[in-house]
Amino acid sequence: MYWWQESVVYQIYPRSFKDSNHDGIGDLQGIISKLPYLHYLGVDMIWLCPVYASPNEDNGYDISDYFDIMRDFGSMADMDQLIAEAKHFGIGIMMDIVANHTSSEHAWFKEAKKSKNNPYHAYYIFKENLGEIPSDLQSIFLGSAWELSPDTNEFYLHMFAKGQPDLNWDHKSVRDAIYQILNWWMDKGIKGFRFDVIDMISKDLDKKKISDGPNLHTYITEMNQKSYGSRDVLTVGETWGATVEKALKYSNLDGSEFSMIFNFSHILLDQAQGKEKWDFIDLDLLSLKRVLAEQQIQMHGRGWNSLFWNNHDLPRIVSRWGNDKEYRVQSSKMFGTLSHFMQGTPYIYQGEELGMTNVVFEDLNDYRDIETFNMINQRLNQGYEMNSILDSIHKIGRDNARTPFQWSSQAHAGFSDVEPWIKVNPNYIDINVEKQMHDQDSVLEYYRKLIKLRKNSEYQDLIRDGDFELMYEDHPDVFAYNRKLGSQRLEVICNFHGKVITLPYSTKSKRVLLSNYEEVLDQQDLVLRPYAAIVLTAGDE
Ligand code: GLC
Ligand code: CA
Repeated sequence: MYWWQESVVYQIYPRSFKDSNHDGIGDLQGIISKLPYLHYLGVDMIWLCPVYASPNEDNGYDISDYFDIMRDFGSMADMDQLIAEAKHFGIGIMMDIVANHTSSEHAWFKEAKKSKNNPYHAYYIFKENLGEIPSDLQSIFLGSAWELSPDTNEFYLHMFAKGQPDLNWDHKSVRDAIYQILNWWMDKGIKGFRFDVIDMISKDLDKKKISDGPNLHTYITEMNQKSYGSRDVLTVGETWGATVEKALKYSNLDGSEFSMIFNFSHILLDQAQGKEKWDFIDLDLLSLKRVLAEQQIQMHGRGWNSLFWNNHDLPRIVSRWGNDKEYRVQSSKMFGTLSHFMQGTPYIYQGEELGMTNVVFEDLNDYRDIETFNMINQRLNQGYEMNSILDSIHKIGRDNARTPFQWSSQAHAGFSDVEPWIKVNPNYIDINVEKQMHDQDSVLEYYRKLIKLRKNSEYQDLIRDGDFELMYEDHPDVFAYNRKLGSQRLEVICNFHGKVITLPYSTKSKRVLLSNYEEVLDQQDLVLRPYAAIVLTAGDE
């Protein structure tokens, strides 16, 4: 058993967590001031989105110096203080390593573009200018992935923004430089890494393969051996292209690659149906059940799952598949219940524990995300109506997850005392920490219970190791499963709709461990109210 199999990770988007120095931008001192809150919540790891020096074209995912801190966020002294004070609360820090690309402002790229003879030229992916763009490869942020670099008259590859040139991992010095960065941060005492778009580090451009290239696992294994493999840290890879089969390889329990990865198959149901990211369809619950059950069953005893609904790139799950109006509280708790009783390491994205929702800005000027603006330009050129573009942003845009954290009902949600870098969600008056703390019915207190049950209860072994089995597999509105270990058994039953559902079920000798309603057990059937989540124990009496 590894310690991170019992961890609960909390993801912080530093720009939007807490501002300490009145500039409207969240910062490291802000995070330090809120460590007691995270301790109260009960998490034991923080995944810190990038805080390195960066010109901030993609909110820090464009790093110009891996050994320095973004001025907006503070200094290296603040970072050291954060590591030390978090440790004091029993909380480890995970750094977000963006190693598929750097910022175009990184010293390596500044050198690389000067001349073909520069030693750093081989650090990036250049193609000769033969009078036209090297290929029709598209950036993930839309538009061509090639940009002309005038000094050498070559094109360089950027799979994201122009300011994010892709590194050439086939060049040994690049790999060694990254391993050095990892070791440097571990020497500082950090307890883990999240590896940004790590499945893109090996490419086969001739075959138009921009991820899962031929050397991917060789490089990850080498990185493991030359850096974190010998240290006691949690590693998680961001792998948009992962399947269960790939996840087994990455998270093989022999420890040769990563502790775990983010398998997005349950998030990408629409894309699996052939939809583009910005188009969306209603939830197909049967597919969701099938995909998550496959992860649970196939990975059991052979790999390790991360459990998540949200992150800084995704719309809020309560708005996407729940009901963020009249059943906001119930559906937020329902999603938490569903994932926290599965096998794996749960990730809570800031605000999820309050039931924070998507935001609806009508004025495009209120948006900040580069990906959103690229989409607007492209879709306007393609003749889309502004209304449909706005609808896509409201449902899918990344800024939905990036509005300031809602601490209180004071001005700017207690995030800052000046106008924040991005507007707060107007619903902060109702949805905030101050209101939810010590309110036994709040989403926050419910998340505290979820965390306690998995970290410190008679069910913790079962939650960590138990078998998984779907129940009511073909039911179109109910997602239910059971977990078993020895003589213990838990049943998790969730209603995915805003209507009452009655399930034929014998509640005899069952006990409610947790529920998002005050449930009264009937001897005959199980009555599930809108977005109900019920966890029952059985078999251990
Ligand atoms: C990852 C990050 C995302 C970023 C992209 C480029 O997907 O999560 O926020 O824009 O990589 O680094
Ligand atoms: Ca600040």
